[in-house]
Amino acid sequence: MHEYGKSNWESLWEKLEQAGNVGIDYVINPSLYPQILNFLAQHPNSIVVDFGCGTNLMGIQLLFGYKASIPALQNNPNVDHARFNTLLYIGVEGSQELIDQSNRYFHDIGEPKNIASVQTHIDKNFSLFDNQSVDLCVSRNFLMHLSLEDFLAHMADVSKILKPGSFYIFTTLNPNYELKKAGREMVNGERYEFQHGKSGEYGIFYHYYKTREFFKETIGKYFEIEKIEDCTPISDKYTETHARYYDSEPMAQTYVLKVK
Ligand SMILES: C[S@@+](CC[C@H](N)C(=O)[O-])C[C@H]1O[C@@H](n2cnc3c(N)ncnc32)[C@H](O)[C@@H]1O
Repeated sequence: MHEYGKSNWESLWEKLEQAGNVGIDYVINPSLYPQILNFLAQHPNSIVVDFGCGTNLMGIQLLFGYKASIPALQNNPNVDHARFNTLLYIGVEGSQELIDQSNRYFHDIGEPKNIASVQTHIDKNFSLFDNQSVDLCVSRNFLMHLSLEDFLAHMADVSKILKPGSFYIFTTLNPNYELKKAGREMVNGERYEFQHGKSGEYGIFYHYYKTREFFKETIGKYFEIEKIEDCTPISDKYTETHARYYDSEPMAQTYVLKVK
């Protein structure tokens, strides 16, 4: 058994999803979704893999979400074309509880045939997809969960399963934001507790801190970095309630990587 969080955090994660999540909806998705939609709008019959997909809510929103109620989908001209082009969206997730919840979501939206969630732990032994079988890999707030060794293996695996010239598009926390949140210096590879919410009210996760240098050096072995974009809030509505997202040190960054 693998440990994904501490004390009942899966149900807290579900609550967070249902309550709406300012960081995800107004800071991260507005940077991440346009990159994914842009790729999909240009690539018919795409097979997409989402690593550490949780309840697969990102896939559900991208493919079936009601555009008017999702800030990052409003006004994006690529949504319909990207949806049409997505042959299959597969989420991979370690927690069976979150997979069960994703299956309940699928039930609620009428069991669509082009999205699925698979329960598997991702580490250095992970091998689920054939070489050059995937058009696009994505992840959101997942890579911080991997140890240095597993992160290296993950990047190598993604570079193998992607078709030539394809992309890995993801958002991950800014290491400097992680340092601030931890409130202390950390060394590369250090495992630490990361609190969701101001004081952990949305659960506590384990992350492995990775320096920016290690991160870039590792991805550079397998990918060309096409773009790194800071995730900054698209609305001023939350300056008081969520001041941390308006800090000069952005919470997260979106990477667009092209396989070498
Ligand atoms: C912060 S959550 C993000 C979930 C989802 N990507 C989203 O943005 O809604 C990170 C997810 O990664 C999963 N996870 C962490 N380590 C994993 C591993 N080694 N293998 C598979 N899933 C993992 C966790 O269970 C959790 O669902």
